[in-house]
Amino acid sequence: MARASGMAISTVRKGRDEGRRGATPEDTVEVRRSAAKRPYEVAHPEEWPALEKIAATGSRADCGIVAIRLRSTRRPGPARRRGYTRPRKGVPVKAAVYAEYGPPDVVQIAEVEAPAPKDGEVLVEVHAASINPYDWHFVRGLPRLMRLVSGLRRPKDTRLGADVAGRVRAVGAGVTRFKPGDAAFGICRGSVAELVCAPESALVEMPANVSFAQAAAAGIAALTALQALRDKGRVRAGQTVLVNGAAGGVGTFAVQIARANGAGVTGVCSARNVELVKSIGADHVVDYTREDFTKSGRRYDLILDCVGNHSLGAFTRVLAARGTYVGVGGGGVRPEDFSGVAWTAAMLGRSIAQLVRNLFGRQKLTGLLAKGKTEDLETLRGLLASGEVTPVIDRRFALAEVRDALRYVEEGHARGKVVIGVHG
Ligand SMILES: NC(=O)c1ccc[n+]([C@@H]2O[C@H](COP(=O)([O-])OP(=O)(O)OC[C@H]3O[C@@H](n4cnc5c(N)ncnc54)[C@H](OP(=O)(O)O)[C@@H]3O)[C@@H](O)[C@H]2O)c1
Repeated sequence: MARASGMAISTVRKGRDEGRRGATPEDTVEVRRSAAKRPYEVAHPEEWPALEKIAATGSRADCGIVAIRLRSTRRPGPARRRGYTRPRKGVPVKAAVYAEYGPPDVVQIAEVEAPAPKDGEVLVEVHAASINPYDWHFVRGLPRLMRLVSGLRRPKDTRLGADVAGRVRAVGAGVTRFKPGDAAFGICRGSVAELVCAPESALVEMPANVSFAQAAAAGIAALTALQALRDKGRVRAGQTVLVNGAAGGVGTFAVQIARANGAGVTGVCSARNVELVKSIGADHVVDYTREDFTKSGRRYDLILDCVGNHSLGAFTRVLAARGTYVGVGGGGVRPEDFSGVAWTAAMLGRSIAQLVRNLFGRQKLTGLLAKGKTEDLETLRGLLASGEVTPVIDRRFALAEVRDALRYVEEGHARGKVVIGVHG
C-alpha cells in the first residue's frame, strides 16, 4: 500500500500545497517525475526516504522528482464523492497495439488516449504485464478458426496483453474493493500499456511479499493450472500427477499447485530444465529428449497436458484406470503447429476420440478454457502470500521490446513466465 502512514512530509509542492499539513495515514503520496506535462504517479514506498529528504531540505536536486503532492481521501471533492477520479483528458499514454494479423512485427507501441474507468472499472497504472501464448494466438489470428470470434479480416480488438499488475490510479462508480494507490493484479485485455481499465471483478489485492513482475506472471497461466488441477482434475493428496510441459508458464504453476495439494508430481521437460522443475517441487522429472513417458509403463491418476504432442491413446496408456486427463494446450507450442487445415482436422479427430472414450471408458478425458474468476484470483493470492507458489520468471522485457518478448514466447521454450516491465 502506497499510503503515507508515518511520513513526515509537510512541505509538498511549490504553491498551493506548500506547508499545508503533514501526511496522514489517509493520504497517498504522488510524485511528478518530469517537467513535461506528465500526470502525477503514486510514489513507491522505496522512494519515501528520498521524499522525506526533499520535504526536509526543500532540495530536489538529482532525484528525478520535480514535484510531490499528497492526495487526501479525508475530504473528498464532488468527483471523489461519486467514487470516481477523472483522469486528465488529452494526456497520451503508450500501449502495445496491432491493426492486422501477423508475426510480432505487426505490434506497435502507439500513443493512445488515456482510458477512463467506467462504472465498476478500475484504472490501473501498469507496472508489469506478462506474455502468454494466448497473446501470439491473437496477434497471428491462429488457429484461423478463432478469427470467427476475434475478427475475420482484421482484429476487432487491437490491444495486446491479458495479465496485469500495477497501482490503482482511479476507480469508477460502484467500485468498493479498491482505492487509488492500492496494488492490484489480475486479468484485463490490453494490459501491455501504461494505463489500463479493468473490471473490478478481474482484479485482487496484491500480496505484500511479491513483486509487480511476479504478480503479473500469475495471471492466465496460474489460473489455468489451478482450474485444470482443482476443478477438472479434482487433485487430492496422495495422487500421482504428471505435468507435460512442466517448465512452461502453466507447467511451473501446475507443479507447485499439485505439490501444495499433497500430490506426488512428475514433470516432463527438456534436459536443460530438469533442475528447475525439481527445484519447484517435482518428485520425478522426465527429460523428454531421452525418454518417452507414454512408453514408461508408469501410470498417473491425473495428467495435465500443456503441450498436446502425443495422441490421446498414448496418454490413456499411462493414465490410471479411473484417472483424468486434462488438456490445456491446443496441439502444439509454436505458431506453425496451428496453421493450415491439418490442425483443424487433428483437433476434430481428437475431440471425437475424446467423446467416444468418455462414453465407453472409465477414464475421464477433458479440456479447459481458463476463466478470470475473482474467487480463483483470491485463491492464487493466498498461494502467493503463503509462499506455496512462487512464480518462475524467465526473461523481462521493456515495453518497447514487446515484439522480442512475443518472438521469444513463440519459440515454445520459455522457462516459466516472460514479463514486460512498464512503470517502475
Ligand atoms: N486452455 C487454456 O485456457 C489455456 C490457458 C493458458 C495456456 N494455454 C495453452 O497451454 C499451452 C502451454 O502454455 P504455457 O503458457 O505454459 O506456454 P509456454 O510458457 O510457452 O511453455 C512452453 C513450454 O513447453 C515445453 N515444451 C515444448 N515442447 C515440449 C515437449 N515436446 N514436451 C514437453 N514440454 C515441451 C517447453 O519446455 P522445454 O523448453 O523444456 O521444451 C516450455 O517450457 C499453450 O499451448 C497455451 O496456448 C491454454
